[in-house]
Amino acid sequence: MEKFVVRGGRRLSGEVDVHGAKNSALPLLAATILCGSQSVLHNCPSLSDVDAACMILDYLGCGISREENSVVVDTSNLEHFEVPDTLMREMRSSIVFLGAIIARLGRCRLCFPGGCELGPRPIDLHLSALRQMGIDIREEHGYLDCSVSARGIQGTKIVLSFPSVGATENIMLAAVLAKGDTVIVNAAREPEIIDLAQYLNKCGARILGAGGGTIVIHGVRNLHGCEHTVIPDRIVTVTYLCMAAITGGEIIVNRCIPSHFDAVTPVLEQMGCRMNVYPDSIYLNASRRLRGVKTIRTLPYPGFPTDAQALIMAVSTVAEGTSVFVENIFESRYKHIGELARMGADIKVEGKVAIVDGVEKLYGADVEATDLRGGASLLIAGLGAEGITRVTNIGHIDRGYDGLEKTLREIGADIQREKEGLNGSCSS
Ligand code: EPZ
Repeated sequence: MEKFVVRGGRRLSGEVDVHGAKNSALPLLAATILCGSQSVLHNCPSLSDVDAACMILDYLGCGISREENSVVVDTSNLEHFEVPDTLMREMRSSIVFLGAIIARLGRCRLCFPGGCELGPRPIDLHLSALRQMGIDIREEHGYLDCSVSARGIQGTKIVLSFPSVGATENIMLAAVLAKGDTVIVNAAREPEIIDLAQYLNKCGARILGAGGGTIVIHGVRNLHGCEHTVIPDRIVTVTYLCMAAITGGEIIVNRCIPSHFDAVTPVLEQMGCRMNVYPDSIYLNASRRLRGVKTIRTLPYPGFPTDAQALIMAVSTVAEGTSVFVENIFESRYKHIGELARMGADIKVEGKVAIVDGVEKLYGADVEATDLRGGASLLIAGLGAEGITRVTNIGHIDRGYDGLEKTLREIGADIQREKEGLNGSCSS
């Protein structure tokens, strides 16, 4: 096990490049299965979740090679339609492989993805949509055994009761090679959905309307591989901005797409950060004490992203006044609050509402990452705190942040990755 050791109170200042988006790379890697030939994905981040996706592809029989930030995937010869439990459990979002495998092979067997730190992660929307497309899915003993009749997957109209990102992706993957047209009503509108549609269309698919609430997919007979560059990670970008903000610093994040986090930038401005937005970079300066935010309600895109809730909350713990957060997307996405409280944060939780009363300062403490963005929020707090913060269980953070400590050191942070001693004490 490893930990991050952060000595807080140092003002961050400098420029960083943001890496490719985890939540785009994962469905893109699954989508390569549909092509039956070679694809190259550039700007693919080195993350444990990407490693897990590559292990699934390798297990299925795909040829995989990684050079720097490019992943070359050859899906000509698939040998399996099953995904082993160990690999399924590595990563919650492996459910998105279901749509791709069943569309390519007509069979798929994988274990029900478990819950995770954010609460139960149901897949009822995925399953009901795929069943409407003529896919037979048997759920038994924790497994999903999926097959397609001789008629093949049938395009149809699917109305999602919630604009689920994963369900939208699974439907797209199942529909591109289906017979006839599929219409997704109340589709997710995230930038990662657009990125997936752009890749698939370059492979020969016919997808219209991605990024809007209604997506139309005209089934085609086959796809071919292509080269594609993964979009930048909008949540990692916001993470860097929050790290600079809490330290009263200034930062330029390059190679990002500011329009992908339009709901967050005004919040940082309301808190007192001076922001300059450019086509592919953003500047933040937080020279004076920040102010709390009125009310943050997490919503499906383009609303305020749930993935940024813990990040902005960390900054608000030392902002002047009260900030209110309403987490509308996940049932249990406040586990970082207990850890922030160990550092002196004053946060009350009432159901899905969290009320933060800003304090003068936070103090370093031993805290534990509870999930990916919760872990990142502890690093944000540690960078702004007085004294040393040790963040354990950082495997959560490594799922979504590539080269984080190196990048932070380059802009002035005092952060080290250390092996955890047997008794949990910090190694010398
Ligand atoms: C994706 O998760 C992201 N993960 C999440 O990012 C992100 O928080 C989430 O979208 C919302 O933006 C990836 O893209 C790999 P959903 P996903 O389906 O697809 C409920 C991170 O930190 N729901 O839009 O799982 C679900 O329980 C991660 O990078 C159902 O009820 O999100 C949740 O409450 C965390 N039934 C809500 O919808 C279903 O069949 C949103 O889920 C599916 C979802």
